Formats: sequence, structure tokens, C-alpha cells
Amino acid sequence: MSSVPATTSHAGIDSVLNEDRVFPPPETFAKSAHIKSFDEYKRIYQQSIENPEQFWAGIASELKWIKPWSKVLEWNPPYARWFEGGQLNVAENCLDRQIALGRGDKVAIVWEGEPVKSDLSAGEVRKITYSQLADAVNRFANGLKAQGIRRGDRVTIYMPMVPEAVVAMLACARIGATHSVIFGGFASHAILDRVEDARSHYVITADGGNRRGSIVPLKANVDEALKQTSLVKKVIVLKHTGNEINMEAGRDIWWSDVIAGQSADCPPEPMESEDLLFILYTSGSTGKPKGIMHSTAGFLVGTYITTKYVFDLHEDDLYWCTADIGWITGHSYVVYGPLANGATVFMYEGAPNFPDFGRFWSMIQRHKITILYTAPTAIRAFMRAGREIPDKYDLSSLRLLGTVGEPINPEAWMWYQQVIGDGRCPIVDTWWQTETGAIMISPLPGAIATKPGTATLPFFGIEPAVVDRDGNELPTNKGGLLVVRKPWPSMLRGILNDPDRYVRQYWSEVKDCYFTGDGARRDNDGYFWLMGRVDDVINVAGHRLGTAEIESALVAHDAVAEAAVVPMPHEIKGTGIAAFVTLEAGRKPSEELKKELINWVGQQIGPIAKPDQIRFAEALPKTRSGKIMRRLLKELAHDGEVRGDITTLEDLNVLAKLRQQEE
Ligand code: WTA
Repeated sequence: MSSVPATTSHAGIDSVLNEDRVFPPPETFAKSAHIKSFDEYKRIYQQSIENPEQFWAGIASELKWIKPWSKVLEWNPPYARWFEGGQLNVAENCLDRQIALGRGDKVAIVWEGEPVKSDLSAGEVRKITYSQLADAVNRFANGLKAQGIRRGDRVTIYMPMVPEAVVAMLACARIGATHSVIFGGFASHAILDRVEDARSHYVITADGGNRRGSIVPLKANVDEALKQTSLVKKVIVLKHTGNEINMEAGRDIWWSDVIAGQSADCPPEPMESEDLLFILYTSGSTGKPKGIMHSTAGFLVGTYITTKYVFDLHEDDLYWCTADIGWITGHSYVVYGPLANGATVFMYEGAPNFPDFGRFWSMIQRHKITILYTAPTAIRAFMRAGREIPDKYDLSSLRLLGTVGEPINPEAWMWYQQVIGDGRCPIVDTWWQTETGAIMISPLPGAIATKPGTATLPFFGIEPAVVDRDGNELPTNKGGLLVVRKPWPSMLRGILNDPDRYVRQYWSEVKDCYFTGDGARRDNDGYFWLMGRVDDVINVAGHRLGTAEIESALVAHDAVAEAAVVPMPHEIKGTGIAAFVTLEAGRKPSEELKKELINWVGQQIGPIAKPDQIRFAEALPKTRSGKIMRRLLKELAHDGEVRGDITTLEDLNVLAKLRQQEE
């Protein structure tokens, strides 16, 4: 990888060659920030921990309520109910409230499509004001009702990154339907599983999406999935890419027909604070994705305030979170958090390297984007493409940078800080999860000094700790389990159809704490350094995948007898996927079979789940009780070496054979 020069204009750098680089908030930034100093952060944090209910109630009262709550928190571990007795509507907060505050003509969404014009200057650009967005949401919401969708129904959304995806989410919120968004990069299997688990009778999709110069056949994927289930009554299809698709009479209906003749007035449904806002599926340590449930009030309160403080949002910002709406980051920080703040959100449909690696920088220059929130994997890919590319563009509109999804290596952090941020922009490395709903640990850019590679300190009202299995807090610089000690408004309310798993997975591992599944340590300043997952979940290019999910996909191939999937280091993705595979009798290992299996996983789950490496083995190493010893395979995938205790191995020969293969 390219290295970062050891000099910078930033006053806070002593040296970039040691691990103690500290970057205090730039003075000019701090002056106009919402939270202006470390003392201010400490004071508010202290109060928020001593009296969390008072703190969160103060934040909640900044929002629009249809009926005020009567109780801030009802905590029967591990079940939290926030703002009990209150009623509100999330879409009303994101639209009507903004218009009432005078933002009707303010642009809510600036969108750029992926295909570039023939002169290569830009893609198609759409600008939608808050009033226009409210109109579109209300018409579509009325259209959904006309299609028979009611409060409490579950609506599956499988869309490209277009403004209509936001419209669809907000329209569901407006009428009280629960959305379940599926990432557009997932294959038909994933759609089927999620539609069935959510018992969703309605799907909103598009003909296709543009991705890296080709069309992702979204509608065809839906058709394929729906062959296996009769649950779905209606499929609403947005015409976007214009590719030919099949429309099934009686089931499929065009978006334009859904809104035809509908009124732009749709009163917001008064939702109870604890009503489900959405379900979002994420990978866990079993083969079955979990439907994480988020509530209405708590989720809105958490995303609203973290967006405001972590991104230090101001009225004239043009804010860009590059995540797809299919991930939690898209829910919290493309849609709900920014719109609840009346921000102008930038949205881009396609790939970062289309038509080349200059695309992001060209859009930042052309639209004068001020805040960029992206993933370490993207930063590493840009680094590898070379700094000459961003250097060609004027990035002086940027004032704040952010990252999320996986630990950022200090080298990539420095590159981001210097090459993209010109040493001028603070970086917020934000730690959180699908389950937490909102950012939990992150610098506040005007108040907290940053160091490359750490998410620094907890957000207001959040009390994380690094503990051992018994819940004892560990001393400074000792690695352990990251837990959260107190409930917070945007925490998950459970796993759909699996209440036991909620208790088992998050609240049983460490007594009286929410267990994150991550390892961490705290340094001398109390900063949290995230050390990756300690369970069977891997973060590949910032996307969360369960090893068991990929294993099930592999075993579903008729050549595969058994499979074990483990993480391996990867230069761009951070973590890649190594799959150890044993074959059915009579099947022979070959390069072709490797390729076939890689593509097979791509078809079963989606391209992001494709293994980077397939290794054939005669048998997998197992404990006496028959559990695959993933730890050994992990070490093997990591550096080809096996360390540690192997006495529980049933067949040492197996390991020896695997090691021989390495040599
Ligand atoms: C990892 C994404 C280090 C972590 C919002 C977590 C991070 C998982 C960071 C959640 C970060 C996320 N530093 N690790 N700043 N942000 N992670 O549910 O392992 O897709 O548990 O939510 O990503 O992934 P998820």
C-alpha cells in the first residue's frame, strides 16, 4: 500500500511515525460546532450517565409528538420500553415538521445516477425539496393503502439507491406499515428467506438498478424468489432502468399506477412509541439471518441526536453517507437521522469506481459536498488506486469525514485525513451495529481529539465497557469483550420470531450487560480500540456476514460434503473469506470446481459473500464432540501456522494434512 508522507500542515501532529498521533479538533471547527470543547462533552456525558432518563427526555422533546409520553423508560432487563404512552409518526418528523420549520423549499435529496453523460461530465442529477418529498411520500402512502396495505403490515423493499427507495420507506412509516429493506446486492434466495420470515405480503422493487455499468435485474430476482412462495400478494415495480421485465397479471403493478390519482394529503398515522418501525435482517452466528426489530420513538430519538452531534450538522451542509439503504447505516444515516434534522442528503446510485476511481471526488467537487461518511474498505480501495486521482479534484468543500463498518487501520485513517481531508477535516470513526440502531462510540468532531484507529469515546447516555466473561471491567490496554451497561433508546427490541435468541445472544454472555460480539481495549485516555468480532460473524468490506450462512450455501452445492468458513486478512476488504471444504465421495478437487463454488455462493447469497479462497481438505479438524475447530482453521487462513492447544483434536492427521497443503 502507498505510504503517507510524514509531514502535514495540521498543527496537532507531532509525528506520524509513532502510534501516539493525536489530532485535537481544529480550532475553527470547534468554534462553530454544536459541542465545542472536551469539557463540554465531559459535562454533558456525566449528566447523561447520572440521569439518562432526563437526558433522553430532553432530546425527545425536540421532536414532534402527537401525544406526549407518560414514562421515559420501563426497564425489565433485557426488555426496554422507551417513551411509553407517547404517540408520534416518524415520517411526520422527517417531512411535515421540517416544512413547518421553514424548510419546505430546502433541498432534501440531491441524487446522482450512475450512468454518465456522453461527455463524461456527470450523471443524471435530481434535486428534491422537502415539500416535493412530502408530496411524493403522501401520494405513495395513499397508493399503498389503496393496494390494501394497512398499519402493522410488513412491506419488503428491494430497491436500487434511488430517491424512491426513501419515498417507499417514509411512506411505510407514514401509514404505520413495518418495512423490511433487503440490500439490492442480495440474490433471490435472500429475498425468499426474508419475505417468509417476515411473512410479508407486499414487495416494492424496481425493474433494475445501475451498478458498475450494468443492470442489476432486481425484478427478475424477485420473480425468482416468489416462485418458491405464495405469500406475496402484490409487487409494486418502479420503472428505473427500463430493461424488459415480466409483469405478472394480478400481482405486479407499476409504481406510476399506484400513485395515479392519489392525493398528496395523507395524515400521519399516530404510532405508539414502541410500535415497530422496521425489521432489518443481519447476519449472526447461525445460518439464519436475524430480523432485528427497531421501535418508532427510540430509533428516531437515537438517530436524530447522533446525526446532529456526530456529524455536527449545520443548515447549509450537503451531507453524504455512501451506505446503501439496505444496511442499517443507510436506514439511520441516509434516511431517518439526516431527514429528522432537516439536512440536505446526497445520494449516489452506483459504484465508487464507475467509470473510474475519480467518481466520488468528481461528485464532491461538482456538488460541493461538505460531509463524507464512508467505509474503511472504500478508503483502502481508493488508496490503492493512487492519490493522483483525488488530487486532481477540488475537495475543499469537505469539512468533516467519517467512517463506519469495521476497524480502520491507522494507515488508511492517515491517508483519509491527509489526502481527502487535506489535514483540515476531523474524522469521526463511528462504532455501532445494526442492533444498536445509532452510533454508540465516536468522536464529537469539535470536542474530542482523535487518534488514527480508535472510535474514541462513548456518545451521551451510552455506557460501554471492556470486560471479561464474568463482567469484570478490565484494566487499561487489556483486550476483552465490549459490552454496554445501560439500555438506550435506539437499541433493538428483539429478533423477529426468535425471542429466545435475543436473550441468549445479547443478554446472557455477560451478566446484566448487552453483549456486542466485539472485542476491544481501552487506552490510557479511556479511548475504545475495536478489535473485531469475537463470534462467528465476519465483517467483509464492512458488510456483516455469518460464517454459518456461507457454510450453508456451500453445503447446498452437490459436490460439497462439509464446509468451514473463517476470516482471512485481505488488503482492500480488511477481512476476506476463506472456506475449507470437504467433497462428496467421487468428486475431485480442481481449479474449475473452486471457481464454481465461489460463483455458487455469489448466486446463493450475493456477490459480497463470495469466498476469496477455497481450500479442499480431506476432513475438517474437529473436537471430540464433533465441533469444527474453527480457531485452528482461522490461524491457518491467517498465516498458514497453527498455534495453541490442539489436544482436543480428534484426528491430528487431519491437521497435518491441511498443513501439508500449505507447504
Ligand atoms: C463492526 C454497521 C470497528 C463491529 C454500523 C460491529 C466497527 C459490526 C465499526 C456491526 C468501527 C462497525 N470500528 N468496528 N467504527 N463500526 N464495526 O451491524 O464488528 O453491519 O459489531 O453495523 O461492524 O456491523 P453492522
